[in-house]
Parts: sequence; C-alpha cells; structure tokens
Amino acid sequence: MTKPIGIFDSGVGGLTVYKAIRAAFPSEDLIYFGDTARVPYGPKSHHTVIEYSVQNARFLLQKGIKALVVACNTASAVALPALQELAQIPVIGVIEPGAEMVAQLSQNQKIGVIGTEGTIRSGAYTQAILSLLPNAQVFSRACPLLVPLAEEGWLDHPVTRLVVKDCLGEYKEKGIDTLVLGCTHYPLLKALFAEELGAGVNLVDSADAIALHLKSILPPCDTQRLGVDKFYVSDNEEKFHQLASRILGMKNLQLQRLRLFESWFE
Ligand code: DGL
Repeated sequence: MTKPIGIFDSGVGGLTVYKAIRAAFPSEDLIYFGDTARVPYGPKSHHTVIEYSVQNARFLLQKGIKALVVACNTASAVALPALQELAQIPVIGVIEPGAEMVAQLSQNQKIGVIGTEGTIRSGAYTQAILSLLPNAQVFSRACPLLVPLAEEGWLDHPVTRLVVKDCLGEYKEKGIDTLVLGCTHYPLLKALFAEELGAGVNLVDSADAIALHLKSILPPCDTQRLGVDKFYVSDNEEKFHQLASRILGMKNLQLQRLRLFESWFE
C-alpha cells in the first residue's frame, strides 16, 4: 500500500502548494491539514509557531505519511529544525526550494522578498538566498495585509491593488529582477504583482518551487491510479470548503474537522 504525502499550513493558503503538488504527483495520495482555528501564524511568536507546527506534524505522522511538506512559509522559516528532529521521514519546507529557484532565475542578484512578519523577522529567506548567492542584495519586507485580502477573495480589488503598490514601491526603485512570494497567499495575487512590477521581474512562487523539489527527492509513484485527496481543518469547514473548491477547482472535498485538539497533540 502506498503511503500518503502530508501537507500542513496555518489555514487555506497552503492550498496553493497543495495544487502544485497535486499537479506534479497525480497518483500520490495527499493529506492536507489547515489549522483554520489558529490562523494566522504570521504575527505570532516563533515559540508559538513551533509549538503549533509540532502538533500539526504529529497529527499527520499518525496518518502514516511518507513525507511532510510544510506549506506555510512562517512555519517553514521558524519550525523546520524542530519538525526534522521529530519526524523520521523527509520534511520539506518552502524556504530552501524558493531560494534555489531564485539562484536559477536572478541575473542582477537584486532580490526582493515579501512575507509575513514572522517569516521576515526570521531572516530565513535572506540567509538561504545568501548561502547560494553570497554577493546578492536581498531586500525584505513584511506585507501582512495581503493575507486577509486574499482570504476575502479580493484578488482583483482596488484596495488590494493599493496595498500591493505600497508593498512593492521601494522594490521598483531598487531595480530587483526577482521577487520571492514568501507567503502561501501571495500566489493568489500573482497577476497583481506582475502588473505592478512589469514583465521583466521573475516571481518566485513557493508552491511551484516545493513541488519541483519534492519531485527530486521522492521515488516515482508505484501506482497509476488517481491519488486520493483528504482534507482536515481545525475550524470553519464551510469557509474552507468554499475557498478550497475555488482554489483547487474540486467539488465535494473529503473534508473533516478535528474536534479534540488534546487527543492529537499527545
Ligand atoms: N501560511 C502563512 C505563510 O505562508 C500565511 C498566513 C498566516 O499568517 O498564517 O506564512
């Protein structure tokens, strides 16, 4: 029997990563956990994000997964070492694959990074990029307002355009040629970033980067059938269902809410 790949995020945003992984691995069984009761992770302390991430990973490990994908940038930035220590399987975060993609794409080595407060405060993207491109100039900025706007589905709203403009203004002046979308929600706003920065700037989407990375480390799937999709959330399953159907283009998701936090944290 093939084992599933486990993916977690602080909420719905990680579905952008899920979608990229599903496209790259049509036959693999996937299990997604969205911690919709405790989202957002971005403004929380590193200590809390590590605690939540370990709990989420424990839940997925109980499901017998063969690899753990940390779709959340904030959790990847601060909790990866703790998760790698916990699990005896490959644990992959979005930071390293994103940095590798930057190294492949950037010509002038002027790179912008946007993410949540937690991700930017950790300096994880800057470190990962500089380890591959020691002479790069990396500019980073937290853009927390974009998360709720994307959650609201305001993907092409004048208010969102204004916030995108404000977030990217200084990057345009600095002449970056690559922008890291260092948050699960930002790929949903890709069109607005592209419009604001112009076609010459590469947009590094952590969702694509992690799917490619996973391909390079997992053996080919031993079955040809279509993989099974299972979703778990810690709250608000209706809202999750709505957004997930929209992001993934899937109807009738196999979705379950976890009620007893205590039981899956032990
Ligand atoms: N999933 C988070 C991230 O990629 C964004 C939402 C949150 O703040 O929890 O950093």
